[in-house]
Amino acid sequence: MPLSTTSSWRRLAAATLLLGGLALAVPLTAAAQAWPARPITLVVPFAAGGPTDIVARALAAVMPKTLGQTVIVENKTGAGGTIAAASVARAQPDGYTFLIHHNGMATAPSLYRKLTYDPLNDFEYVSQVVDVPMTLLGRKDLPAKDLPELLTYLKANADKINLAHAGLGAVSHLCGMLFRKAVGVELTTVPYQGTGPAMIALLGGQVDLLCDQTTQTIPHIKSGAVKLYGVTTPSRLKSLPDAPTLSEQGLQGFEVVVWHGVYAPKGTPKDAIDKMGAAIRAALQDPGVAQRMADLGAVVADDAKLSPAGLQSWLTREVQRYGPVIKAAGQFAD
Ligand code: MLT
Repeated sequence: MPLSTTSSWRRLAAATLLLGGLALAVPLTAAAQAWPARPITLVVPFAAGGPTDIVARALAAVMPKTLGQTVIVENKTGAGGTIAAASVARAQPDGYTFLIHHNGMATAPSLYRKLTYDPLNDFEYVSQVVDVPMTLLGRKDLPAKDLPELLTYLKANADKINLAHAGLGAVSHLCGMLFRKAVGVELTTVPYQGTGPAMIALLGGQVDLLCDQTTQTIPHIKSGAVKLYGVTTPSRLKSLPDAPTLSEQGLQGFEVVVWHGVYAPKGTPKDAIDKMGAAIRAALQDPGVAQRMADLGAVVADDAKLSPAGLQSWLTREVQRYGPVIKAAGQFAD
């Protein structure tokens, strides 16, 4: 009897422990499944070291403070950013894959005849990030010292001058084509997987010209490693006050500003979209990130665009804006 009492007690104790354990296990499992339960991948559609990568890595470095998980930056290059965008459109919509992309998201449907994704229907919108001006640069030893001299030099040497870019759909390509059109000179173009490698080629003197975002170019301009011919904004930049605009040197109406947005595959849970958006906004307000972005000429997107609806309406507007311009220019790829 005492034996049986003891074994009853043991069974009761074991059952209690088991139930207690189950009770404990339920909230733990729920907590473990709360988003994000594992590292998040942020896909960059251009090469490491370039301007999109610089913004992505600045955000990724501080986002764990809000998310409690690592944000892994993955560079997936090719076809002016469309390979990365297609892969994110097809990724599992589980909240662990995001894409950061720029104006190329809006130009691709007009530029690529066989695009395998629809920017307006195959993604969830998270948030816009920053707006970034561009700069027209030349290799350090290019003889022309300013834009007027460059135009004279180009007219005399058009067959010898090349312009680097990051592929059809890249903003460096768009800016380069607008420049070619504005000055009426046909230049040879050299494509790279991003302006990170294009900048290395410019620094090494293998290419002559590159139009690129200030997030990458400002340190090289300040160190004198490249020649600056002008900025692509209507007025001068706080971060480069001595740099003339292209418009003030005679290229009237020449304006290119790059905007960046973050997207997720269609069907990604709203909770993940909302928390990712909140983490991006917190990262942009982080004092270190805010200072770095300001030093590199990037301006945080205004409040209306820092939301899924803000990004969606901006992208829709941009797709409609670029469509007729690209059609008229007749630049397409399959
Ligand atoms: C990059 O990150 O390499 C650039 O944004 C590419 C481009 O010029 O669009």
